[in-house]
Amino acid sequence: MGVLLADILRDRLTATPAGRRLCDAVDERGWWAAAGMAWRAAYLLRLMRWPRAGRAERRALAAVLRGGQWGGYPYPGPRTARFIQAFARLHAVPHVIAASSGATALMAAFQSLQLLPGDEVLVPAITFSASATAAQILGLRALFVDVDPETLCIDPRLVETAITPRTRAIVAVHMGDELCDMDALCGIAERRGLSIVEDCAHAHGAAWRGRPVGGIGNVGCFSFQGQKLLSAGEGGAIVTSDPHVAAACAAAIDCGRTHGTLPDQSCLGINLRMTEMQAALLCCALQRFEREQLLRTSRMERLRDRLSGVDGIRLPRRDPRMTARPTFGFQLLFDADRCGGVPRSRFIADLTHAGFPAWEPLYGPVYLAREYGRLDPRMPGGLDAVRCPTAESLTTRSLVWFPHPFFLGAQRHVDRLADTIATLVTRYQHGLAG
Ligand SMILES: Cc1ncc(COP(=O)(O)O)c(C=O)c1O
Repeated sequence: MGVLLADILRDRLTATPAGRRLCDAVDERGWWAAAGMAWRAAYLLRLMRWPRAGRAERRALAAVLRGGQWGGYPYPGPRTARFIQAFARLHAVPHVIAASSGATALMAAFQSLQLLPGDEVLVPAITFSASATAAQILGLRALFVDVDPETLCIDPRLVETAITPRTRAIVAVHMGDELCDMDALCGIAERRGLSIVEDCAHAHGAAWRGRPVGGIGNVGCFSFQGQKLLSAGEGGAIVTSDPHVAAACAAAIDCGRTHGTLPDQSCLGINLRMTEMQAALLCCALQRFEREQLLRTSRMERLRDRLSGVDGIRLPRRDPRMTARPTFGFQLLFDADRCGGVPRSRFIADLTHAGFPAWEPLYGPVYLAREYGRLDPRMPGGLDAVRCPTAESLTTRSLVWFPHPFFLGAQRHVDRLADTIATLVTRYQHGLAG
């Protein structure tokens, strides 16, 4: 009877890849080891669930449902106003405008800079398409600039050479666990009379030389989409120290209306407001944010320490000017040439098999995406003329991404990840890829 049940169980389990791995583990290493593996898989599944919601979120949403205002009109609603205050404190800026998403925040930010159709903005080759399309939808031209291999963010030296008489702004996208070199970018912007739009979709709570990101350039934009560090499913915010930019953004997200004590910067606007539901969720997420950020930071630092001497792995630079590092994703560079020619895909597959969340980079070079070519066939010289070799090589061959929820787990899992990476790399170097 017991044997029959075990056979039925095995039949069921082998129907899924995870079940097959479990059966293999039972055969190869016995029941105890397999039970440990199953426990770790269940733990990881739970750990990776994002965004997280508990009693506080349920209570906050129920209060919105009971109250009179669900949406974003009149702007700002009471919860949106509370969120704005808290977010302004977190990013040390006098003005925050709440928006419906990160992309619409970027659109309002571009609009606030009073740019004209045909004006150019410089965008890093590696980013989410919205960093460019938010400008292009307004008739601006996005010119792609290659990334610095040390920071994976826009390369300031190439920014300098990409500037033309039509260039008006630099989009500084802080990527993963890295920040742009804001000293270099601000220097260029000042000398050449350009604005800086900081895309901080990955960088909530990060700081450069003690200054929170978003308020370093002329205007900064945040996303609160489902996977972001602070999430309401969807949502966005614009931050700035400039009251004129703030007024223009407030008008842009609220059908052109002027607001309170802000100067009159009326402009064409549509409804890009944050809803009270989004603001209620964000107020709850902000309560947990500092604790979570501390934990992610210390886990990522530990992984960086543990991997720093591993031959075959390169980490982006550790720049002391990043006084609070972003924690959206841990990025490492796998060097196939130093790992016996084993491709990155094999490294990721081996890490996944060992139970770790290792991904290919979230974004390839924006200009290579098929749908992007359809969106903007007016690129100067055509899309085929755009080449960013560093971005192409990093994203197709070496960049590996570890998502942030993993770093809220126990330290021993980070240590196991470091050990597994070191073991895999050594095996590849000795020709034991299997
Ligand atoms: C770098 C970057 N910029 C902008 C956005 C756009 O944000 P949203 O999805 O909230 O519109 C994202 C979202 O993934 C992003 O990663």
